[in-house]
Amino acid sequence: MKLVLATRNVHKIEELSRMLSDLDVEILSFRDFPDLPEVVEDGGTLEDNAVKKAREISQATGLPALADDTGLEVAALGGAPGVISARYAGEACSYDDNNHKLLTELKTVPDEERGAAFRCVIALATPSGEVTTVEGRTDGVILWEARGDAGFGYDPVFLPNGHALSYAEMSQDEKNAVSHRGRALRGARELIARMM
Ligand code: IMP
Repeated sequence: MKLVLATRNVHKIEELSRMLSDLDVEILSFRDFPDLPEVVEDGGTLEDNAVKKAREISQATGLPALADDTGLEVAALGGAPGVISARYAGEACSYDDNNHKLLTELKTVPDEERGAAFRCVIALATPSGEVTTVEGRTDGVILWEARGDAGFGYDPVFLPNGHALSYAEMSQDEKNAVSHRGRALRGARELIARMM
């Protein structure tokens, strides 16, 4: 079976492909379909955005599609940046800009109030319009400074509960074992297997 990953984020493609590598599925992405439409992420929730991306890419390619939408929810910020995690520091911001803004917002927040969670919703859509979703969540804390060079996004500032390493200090397999995306994908694997 062919499955299209509905994302242009090469880090996500790498993580998702690695976690699906043992299934008998041919993983495709925008690299195989250079003319895929740009999906506007204007939904009010992670679920809305994941469903929209999976549905539009499945319809454009005529193949089953998998999309993920992820948000970092920081308790001391009332759940921000949440659904706007990608553009927390502005429309054309970098990962560093977002991390800098987050650490600045939290610079007087004590250890016990630095709780945060990554939430990831994965949507699987078929060309006939059927869509299913699964969610994965990992709780942790926001560090006082960035640590590690691996991964992407907020990885250097997120320490998952019960672990000594930030996401960006972990190998990809270590991150996948505990991450929000890993958890959601382990749920999605069953749905993919049923589609085969
Ligand atoms: P998206 O809308 O799902 O692409 O993700 C929104 C933003 O969340 C991204 O731009 C990243 O900054 C961040 N993000 C998503 N997944 C991860 C992750 O696994 N680690 C760290 N940051 C992430």
